[in-house]
Amino acid sequence: MEKCIEKVLVSKEEIEEICQKLGKEISRDYAGKKLLLVSVLKGAVVFMADLMRNITCECEIDFMAVSSYEGTKTTGVVKFKKDLDINPDGCDILLVEDILDSGITLAYLKEVLLQRNAASIKICTLLDKPANRKADIKADYVGAVIPDEFVVGYGLDYNEKYRNLPYVGVLSPKAYCGK
Ligand code: IMP
Ligand code: MG
Repeated sequence: MEKCIEKVLVSKEEIEEICQKLGKEISRDYAGKKLLLVSVLKGAVVFMADLMRNITCECEIDFMAVSSYEGTKTTGVVKFKKDLDINPDGCDILLVEDILDSGITLAYLKEVLLQRNAASIKICTLLDKPANRKADIKADYVGAVIPDEFVVGYGLDYNEKYRNLPYVGVLSPKAYCGK
């Protein structure tokens, strides 16, 4: 699997530092609030698991699943696949994402959650790829800004694979043609 990675973009050690730093900031900003961490399945699950263990204020967690892709192409239309279990009314929601790319997914989710009377909605993303932004959206907490390359690992996939790599890397072209 690792021979399909051209280069490591964010190492395991860097990810650990990012989770500690963001955890500290979030703990400070949300002390005394009704924090609900909402992770977007499946890609953000690994980041959520590490980030939440660096948060020291009280919080609840929940998960949503959406898809904007059909095969390998984005349709630009977000489909809802799993809703929250917790009622977000009055909660201070922090959306936890693996990557902010076009921004279409998060812009849609923010809109949906606002209609449900959340007290506040902010975004925490491990990776920010600003070059490809299509929706008018910015993250409040960013782990690392990356160039416009397709990345895998630490939850991020290519055709459902590579999510279990402990770092974020650029996939080599030979992995795309299945060699
Ligand atoms: P959006 O384009 O900002 O709506 O991102 C939608 C989703 O596409 C992200 O949450 C990721 O799961 C996925 N995605 C975007 N860029 C990459 C990438 O470089 N590698 C793997 N998945 C990606
Ligand atoms: Mg995602």
